[in-house]
Amino acid sequence: MLRAPRCLSRTSVAPAAALAAALLSSLARCSHLEPRDPVASSLSPYFGTKTRYEDVNPVLLSGPEAPWRDPELLEGTCTPVQLVALIRHGTRYPTAKQIRKLRQLHGLLQARRSRDGGAGSTGSRDLRAALADWPLWYADWMDGQLVEKGRQDMRQLALRLASLFPALFSRENCGRLRFITSSKHRCMDSSAAFLQGLWQHYHPGLPPPDVADMEFGPPTVNDKLMRFFDHCEKFLTEVEKNATALYHVEAFKTGPEMQNILKKVAATLQVPVNDLNADLIQVAFFTCSFDLAIKGVKSPWCDVFDIDDAKVLEYLNDLKQYWKRGYGYTINSRSSCTLFQDIFQHLDKAVEQKQRSQPISSPVILQFGHAETLLPLLSLMGYFKDKEPLTAYNYKEQMHRKFRSGHIVPYASNLIFVLYHCENAKTPEEQFRVQMLLNEKVLPLAHSQETVSFYEDLKNHYKDILQSCQTSEECELARANSTSDEL
Ligand SMILES: *[C@@H]1O[C@H](CO)[C@@H](O)[C@H](O)[C@H]1NC(C)=O
Ligand SMILES: *[C@@H]1O[C@H](CO)[C@@H](O)[C@H](O)[C@H]1NC(C)=O
Repeated sequence: MLRAPRCLSRTSVAPAAALAAALLSSLARCSHLEPRDPVASSLSPYFGTKTRYEDVNPVLLSGPEAPWRDPELLEGTCTPVQLVALIRHGTRYPTAKQIRKLRQLHGLLQARRSRDGGAGSTGSRDLRAALADWPLWYADWMDGQLVEKGRQDMRQLALRLASLFPALFSRENCGRLRFITSSKHRCMDSSAAFLQGLWQHYHPGLPPPDVADMEFGPPTVNDKLMRFFDHCEKFLTEVEKNATALYHVEAFKTGPEMQNILKKVAATLQVPVNDLNADLIQVAFFTCSFDLAIKGVKSPWCDVFDIDDAKVLEYLNDLKQYWKRGYGYTINSRSSCTLFQDIFQHLDKAVEQKQRSQPISSPVILQFGHAETLLPLLSLMGYFKDKEPLTAYNYKEQMHRKFRSGHIVPYASNLIFVLYHCENAKTPEEQFRVQMLLNEKVLPLAHSQETVSFYEDLKNHYKDILQSCQTSEECELARANSTSDEL
């Protein structure tokens, strides 16, 4: 018999004075977490994987903990019995590589400033001055780490999920929550921040202790699941380390759409067009998103680009995701089979336990990973697939594409499988139903476009993957045949 953990801890019985002091310090800590005046940019919808979560879920702009419930979620005779969530880390700093490019760009403007002739319209002179004054406040140590806004993303997501599924996040269940994370700092930190949010749910007003002292957690690192792409030889050889695999990305960088932007930006900044390249332009564009997402300020870089430029730069970002993580190569999605199978093993186990009237051993499973974890899995499951591939040459035709990474995997994006047990089902099989949520909105199932599926039907739809996609085989490199000993 499982004894229900009571979700109490040492902190709950702390003396009143200590409590008051702790409360004060948590209040002080909270004050800088208050949502700032929402700063927006008309470029926000085009930031791809650097998109803020609230730009995908605008309802959150009015209050990040605002109760929001997709009306399509099941209720009534169906009760959720298990939740398996894949969560991308929250808002992060630029990577060291991006920071190096930013420094290069900054240097260019500084050099430009020392020989400023003041040509051009007043508008472009003002913009150049603003850009030259723009401080480079990103440093190498920041290298892709989670920022405070990212912690907030996670705490608030935790609070929203707990209030959306109160029975799953009940006090009885809190010792059975399972946490898995990628080994990357930003993911470990995201899981810790999520735990703090849950702590707030269980102990409102009490400051969270160390993750190790909470009654739930701590998260287990599992890179084979959360960073399967690092463990897939075939992917590494054929895509990741293959100089020609991203051919379309490179071709688009030198294509007419990007060339137009290069010329335009060179004219605005009054630097030779040869001093710029697509990578620098892209990092300049991202600076608008970084300053917005991380600092909540609008960078002068936002004024360098218009919406048409933003759409082109979004496409450049999506092209890379498409060829490296999406439908571009079969191995991209096949490398996620382990994760796919793992999810269904959890669901199977919960179904089995429920059928035997046993308590569900893991009612909530929370896994923290990357955009690179989510995109291949969604591709494996057939989501956001366009009729034609995204290439360097069909930008216009792909204007209304489904594969827009900013809509799919913004910071803190999450894909959730909810398993329900339903009363009054006609057959035992029909007792179990599944819904999928992407970024807290019901994601219609790929096989039926319905918002809910019988669990059996879902398994049936994916039976090929369930039966015959084994990462160990998928990721094996084709053996070089003995013809290699030709002399
Ligand atoms: C690299 O990618 C290209 C384009 O997909 C492919 O033709 C080639 O076989 C790949 N090279 C390796 C070593 O897999
Ligand atoms: C190796 O090459 C031979 C002859 O071309 C072929 O019959 C055999 O199937 C190949 N083996 C593998 C493992 O590809």
